Amino acid sequence: MIILGLNAYFHDSAAALVIDGQVVAAAQEERFTGQKHDASLPVEAVRFCLEQAGIGISDVDEVVFYEKPLLKFERLMVSHLRNFPRGFTQFSRAMRKWLGSRLWLKGQLAQELGCDPDCIRFSTHHLSHAASAFFTSPYEQAAVITADGVGEWTTTAIYKGKMGPEGHSLELVKELHYPHSIGLLYSALTAYLGFRVNNGEYKVMGLASYGQPIYLSAFEKMARIGEDASLELDLSYFSFHHHHARSFSDAMVELLGPARVPGSPLLVQFGDEESQRFADIAASLQAFTERYMMALVDEAKRVTGEENLCMAGGVALNSVANDRIRTQGPFSSLFVHPAAGDAGGALGAALYQSHVVHQIDRAEPMGHAFLGKGYSQQDVAQFLTDCRIRYQAFDDDESLHEEMVKRLSEGDVGAYFHGRFEWGPRALGGRTILADPSRPDMTDKVNRRIKFREAFRPFAPMVLDEEMDRLFKNPGGRDDHLSPYMLGVSPVTDEGKRLLPATTHVDGTARVQRVDPSTNGKVYALLKAFQRQTGVGALMNTSLNVKGEPPAASPGDAYSVFHRSGLDFLVMERCLVEKRGAELQS
Ligand SMILES: [Fe+2]
Repeated sequence: MIILGLNAYFHDSAAALVIDGQVVAAAQEERFTGQKHDASLPVEAVRFCLEQAGIGISDVDEVVFYEKPLLKFERLMVSHLRNFPRGFTQFSRAMRKWLGSRLWLKGQLAQELGCDPDCIRFSTHHLSHAASAFFTSPYEQAAVITADGVGEWTTTAIYKGKMGPEGHSLELVKELHYPHSIGLLYSALTAYLGFRVNNGEYKVMGLASYGQPIYLSAFEKMARIGEDASLELDLSYFSFHHHHARSFSDAMVELLGPARVPGSPLLVQFGDEESQRFADIAASLQAFTERYMMALVDEAKRVTGEENLCMAGGVALNSVANDRIRTQGPFSSLFVHPAAGDAGGALGAALYQSHVVHQIDRAEPMGHAFLGKGYSQQDVAQFLTDCRIRYQAFDDDESLHEEMVKRLSEGDVGAYFHGRFEWGPRALGGRTILADPSRPDMTDKVNRRIKFREAFRPFAPMVLDEEMDRLFKNPGGRDDHLSPYMLGVSPVTDEGKRLLPATTHVDGTARVQRVDPSTNGKVYALLKAFQRQTGVGALMNTSLNVKGEPPAASPGDAYSVFHRSGLDFLVMERCLVEKRGAELQS
């Protein structure tokens, strides 16, 4: 059975294809359009998924949308009536959008995709998140936690999942409703700290490492955690429920001080007092989020009695909280879906339909996140030739890796583009910028010359599987399902701090990627070659893009980043392009 999952019209639209219970392809629309967080109907992502499987839209048995538009509309109506007359502007804006198209989604989807309206189904937002986490996990039985801003009504939920000969199920155990939401609290503070909601949350987490949680008591005023892991926001501190552009109220400003003006300098490394206040607020938010998530995890253990835990929803991208849950929580093992944000709902919707509605078995767990589009050596060579770009082609990976290692160990910064691109926001080696992590100046160099992003933001290391114990505390061995997807932050050992100064954050941690030869063979081989040359089995890794753009997907995207940034070299499949003399091959 062929099932296409879709997410669209809010942010991070995506498509995913599941055939006979196996994930065949999944990609976010932004990778094809170049519009970060693109929310439009994922026409290009759908086209890619179908091409990857060699099928047409008429071959698809069911198209599943990741949430229920009518329930979402109901929430908008009800919360408007509760807040009337406040929020009328927000309400009339929303009505224009909803009455214009979203309520008639079925017809619109059928028309735009060219499919039969009768094959379109609707999942619910948190069920889609939960399915994305459980059915791609390595477990046959698990508790599942979903936490985000809000779906239709749900903001947080606990499920129980089961796969086995007696059948496959994913059942809701308990949930929390709008407006009480850890995700909306985090979003409001993201906006207060001058970052864009649904975009700047990583920056808030990075900033938190520079601060102390001295505002924790202020957070206890804004939100109360109940004994059963319920959460109650004091709405007087927020305005997301009645204002279209502002998510925090004057009361929050009174409590925490003036909000940061977006774009104003954050000079937290240079002892700037105001920047330090923002870092302390970020640290307090992080501490409160972790406190809540630990309570939620304890509750999930209590109500499900399961050994394993899966998580998805935007809050599950908080890698600092994730590592705390993994190492200090009551579950033996933790898996977080690599596309834990809303994009992942496209895949979850398709998986739920496949495994639960149709009871199709899963041959094997997903195992890796390389589900996007790939390009062959021939495609890359053709692109470079057509664009008259000079390149050197290598016959095998070994000689290519030796050349890359030589350059990286001399201090060059290079990009590596190979295979299919990653599903989820993290670069895991398929579309990656690499540098020597033992050089302390590398963080600054890559931030300033290549990524053009805020100086306080850390870079992450990718590390050989067998080097994890030496470089990181509590690496977790085979039970660690976070680090293969860069979804956890681990404390660095003293030796690790000495060997990896460029990827060790100010608080002595790193968001490490464990590289396993069975799922990420080429990157593993490159790391091995780097270790032979330098003694360090790790590289600094960041996504192949510049600030404000989605990661590169195609050879054209990758070359564009290379051309506009201070990258020294670019490797696409086995073609190496150097900065000097790259263009205009004669
Ligand atoms: Fe969500």
